[in-house]
Amino acid sequence: MKRINYAIIAHGGAGGISYAMRRRKGLIEAISIGYGMLAQGGSSLDAVEKAAMILEDTTIFNAGTGSSCNLIGDVEMDASLMTSNLHYGAVAAIRNVRNPIHVARLVMEKTDHLLLCADGAIKFARLMGVKYYNPKTRGKMRVWENRRKQPKNSYFQRHRELVHFYGTIGVVALDMNGCIAVATSSGGITMRLPGRVGDTPVIGAGTYVDKNGGVSVTGHGEEIMRHMLAFRAVTLMARHPASVAGRQVINYATKVGCRCGLAGIDNRGQFLCYNNTRAMSWCSIKNGRLKVFTGD
Ligand code: GLY
Repeated sequence: MKRINYAIIAHGGAGGISYAMRRRKGLIEAISIGYGMLAQGGSSLDAVEKAAMILEDTTIFNAGTGSSCNLIGDVEMDASLMTSNLHYGAVAAIRNVRNPIHVARLVMEKTDHLLLCADGAIKFARLMGVKYYNPKTRGKMRVWENRRKQPKNSYFQRHRELVHFYGTIGVVALDMNGCIAVATSSGGITMRLPGRVGDTPVIGAGTYVDKNGGVSVTGHGEEIMRHMLAFRAVTLMARHPASVAGRQVINYATKVGCRCGLAGIDNRGQFLCYNNTRAMSWCSIKNGRLKVFTGD
């Protein structure tokens, strides 16, 4: 039987490298647990969901607990999961759950739909036994309070300038059976309009995977959606190794003015990890070897 080179990569957003030590700790913990599951023959879907849940629970990232606030101080979160057999589940603008990525998996497995949003997604989560949880942290409330006080800091004047505060998380894994899965989860962009949905839950924008490879994207959601970056990268993996596909997509993104980062794996276990922002934190494990970059 062909031996598959199982592997896993995670990113912690392309918004910067502050709090490097805490990012490093969170990424290493998440990915080590995910890799351990793959090493025991677990599925890439279980591995990416578990690793993404750990990152959502790590308050330093903009996903799950610690998500950024919108213009009126609410936390609305987006998340999606996809597997190389084209199963997909996502939630958009969901509130008051601890792990949006888990609700996305429930959408994938318990419904005939791909994406549930806002109140419908919350009602579905409760029906599935997901408990009320407040993901707002004091730190993110302080950021919101400070920005609100700045007179020029209204959404309409400053939206484009504010978009470097992103820290979406994403995990991509290849398992022993050759299945690839991708999980992406985001607290969105600070001071966005209520109801705004980013690229994360949009199939082909923030998340995509097929038999050739899988990619999770982070960055400016509106531009990522416009250019369908995850789908673009995965399509290129049919003809090129992951690193070449990733390089082509980041060059394209730079050309069209989309600030972003992407991480992924092709079906041979080769990684891609590129960004055109100040920095992107990431962590990968293959053949037992861990690599991590958080800027420290
Ligand atoms: N990439 C995350 C967002 O724009 O919402």
